[in-house]
Amino acid sequence: MNAQPKSETPRPAGHSGAPHNTRTAAVIPAAGRGVRLGPGAPKALRALSGTPMLVHAVRAMARSRAVSLVVVVAPPDGAADVRNLLGDHALPGTTDVLVVPGGETRQESVRLGLAALPDDIGIVLVHDAARPLVPVDTVDAVAAAVRDGAPAVVPALPLSDTVKQVQPRSGSEPEPVTGTPERALLRAVQTPQGFDRATLVEAHEKVALEGEGATDDAGMVERLGVPVVVVPGHEEAFKVTRPLDLVLAEAVLARRRATDGF
Ligand code: CTP
Ligand code: MG
Repeated sequence: MNAQPKSETPRPAGHSGAPHNTRTAAVIPAAGRGVRLGPGAPKALRALSGTPMLVHAVRAMARSRAVSLVVVVAPPDGAADVRNLLGDHALPGTTDVLVVPGGETRQESVRLGLAALPDDIGIVLVHDAARPLVPVDTVDAVAAAVRDGAPAVVPALPLSDTVKQVQPRSGSEPEPVTGTPERALLRAVQTPQGFDRATLVEAHEKVALEGEGATDDAGMVERLGVPVVVVPGHEEAFKVTRPLDLVLAEAVLARRRATDGF
């Protein structure tokens, strides 16, 4: 698909001291079970159009010329299987792939992925395996914004639904509404989220693992007081979470096959 060797043009560092002349890696947390998808194999290993979701996600990262290394964080006992699986599927370009075992929470899995990065990686994209269909333009836009000096970048979209804040209640009791944030001020965030490596590593060192852990890396960076910026996300970067999302993902792949023979 993309047979040319990859190279990165060194760019001047931005005011934030973003790294220059260093490589970009994508860390793909793929160690979740996929409880909300229902019984079956770990979510990242389930097939979409005959190809495991994780393979779609790795290809989506490898398709970006900005990305020279992909670190896949596999289910804790499944790293060998994931290595075999990736060996069986062609990847675009010349991207290197590393596979490491993950942890009990997404936050822990990302931390384990970061720990495996070689020294020459200065920019890290963190991308959910559960967002297998993110277009390359979104990946490129996030990577470019970090290269241009932003320490933390998230792709996001405006919301369709109005959002209510509630007082959660257990069972079937109606939940009292406590507020309605102005929809125009809200964004639904996606991945890949891009970071200056040192900033993200510091966030993972300082923000404690509590309960389920953080589901959003940018949120951890915000807690350091580091500015985070938003770039436009894409509707095809949606997260496969519930069974209906599989139907949508299959439809997106069918549309791609029909329109560009992809
Ligand atoms: N993830 C991970 N390690 C965990 C939990 C989640 O690497 N211990 C990854 C998932 O594999 C997924 C991403 O984080 O790619 C986003 O998580 P989510 O969509 O919640 O996936 P799951 O945790 O697998 O799904 P569920 O919450 O329904 O079990
Ligand atoms: Mg989860």
